[in-house]
Amino acid sequence: MGINVALDGPSGAGKSTIAKKIAAKLGFVYVDTGALYRSIAYYVINNGGDVKNTEQVISMLPGVDVKLKYKRKAQCVILCGEDVSDKIRTPEISMGASAVSAVPEVREFLFDLQRSIAAENNIIMDGRDIGTVVLPNADVKIFLTASAEERANRRFKELQEKGDPSTYEEVLKDINQRDYNDTHREIAPLKKADDAIEVDSTSMTLDETVDAITAIIEEKTGARPPEKKERKPLLDFTDYPPVKRGKKLNPVKLFFYNLLRYIVIFLLKCWYDLKFEGVENVPKDGSNIFASNHRSMLDPVLVELQCRVPNSFMAKEELFEKGKFFVGLIKFWGAFPVARGKGDTDAIKLSVEKLESGRNLLIFPEGTRSHDGKVGRGKTGVALIAAVAQCPVIPVGINFEGKLKFRRKIVVRFGKPIRPEQLKVTTPGPKELKLLKSTIMDSIIELVH
Ligand code: DC
Repeated sequence: MGINVALDGPSGAGKSTIAKKIAAKLGFVYVDTGALYRSIAYYVINNGGDVKNTEQVISMLPGVDVKLKYKRKAQCVILCGEDVSDKIRTPEISMGASAVSAVPEVREFLFDLQRSIAAENNIIMDGRDIGTVVLPNADVKIFLTASAEERANRRFKELQEKGDPSTYEEVLKDINQRDYNDTHREIAPLKKADDAIEVDSTSMTLDETVDAITAIIEEKTGARPPEKKERKPLLDFTDYPPVKRGKKLNPVKLFFYNLLRYIVIFLLKCWYDLKFEGVENVPKDGSNIFASNHRSMLDPVLVELQCRVPNSFMAKEELFEKGKFFVGLIKFWGAFPVARGKGDTDAIKLSVEKLESGRNLLIFPEGTRSHDGKVGRGKTGVALIAAVAQCPVIPVGINFEGKLKFRRKIVVRFGKPIRPEQLKVTTPGPKELKLLKSTIMDSIIELVH
């Protein structure tokens, strides 16, 4: 059994708004019992019944299937499978609820439901008879009041915001009428429980009232606001100072790499109708990140053909389980393994190491190849690496139609580098990284047409 707080009081005293705020503060479940009476009135009216006809209301009760559900901690009223949370907030239903709540069978009908919710959770339950009838043993009982004029004033403003045409006089008349009904009915009339603490909110602001009642609950039950769980950052950025650029690779190896590059360009140009655009955007030195759309197995070669410094690139880890010769070849070429879909921190560390070593890094942010030529959704990993390494990011768009075959036109476009200053994130939270990822993906999309 959890902590039970009963919050009773007349209509319009602000019980529901206040209870919701207190529940959010203390991590309690808020139970609005008025909504249950309202849903019965809604059911009767909607099925052509008369809320003032007691016999009829009783005869309709077996058809009422009402449940309270909690969506992101907010209460929803589900009546016969339909979410009626908003529909039960009209003046007509308010009066109807007041009428049906005077029927003993209706109160009995809702009694078990209210009790069972209270038994399972730390709750703050608002109503009229919670402290007196439903939860006579509640840990804290509050009776919240305010003058009828002040309550009418608050409700009137609320209805006006919703575009309801009721006048202030009508609202005040309603409140007085409902006060009368609720306090004069025979069964469970609205009255303060002997052991309830009265809080008069007539001249208090909403926050003052919330604070006053929260203080009473805390004092009586020892309840405290739950500790906020700290969100674990995706990576501790302090472990990764930005990459120191400018490391030179072995000039002999670079010579042979570039020789090979020109040979491959020549061969590929013989086979395909291959064009490069924006080559002036490719830095002459290393430690750059190339972020490209992914169309085919040839993509790593296509991008590399314009890089004077060799690239490293991530390859799915399954590839590293193939034959020794194959694994040796892709490693020599600069591939390193990444576990897909796991936010692999090792892959991030390796990426940073490769960039530190003076090589470039090639990333396909989409993760997998796109078969229809459209750029898919990028993964956040690219933003994480860019933010950690703070090396220029060069967007690349690989364009061709259909399948790669002899004389197929291929256009590889290099975009303007995204500068390291644009990659800084102050807090490495998901929101900032998503934004950075969008910047990178948008620049790739611009190059694909
Ligand atoms: O709190 P509310 O305005 O949503 O309540 C609607 C009606 O239901 C109100 O006129 C009194 C009645 N009610 C009740 O009799 N007992 C409760 N525990 C809650 C509400």
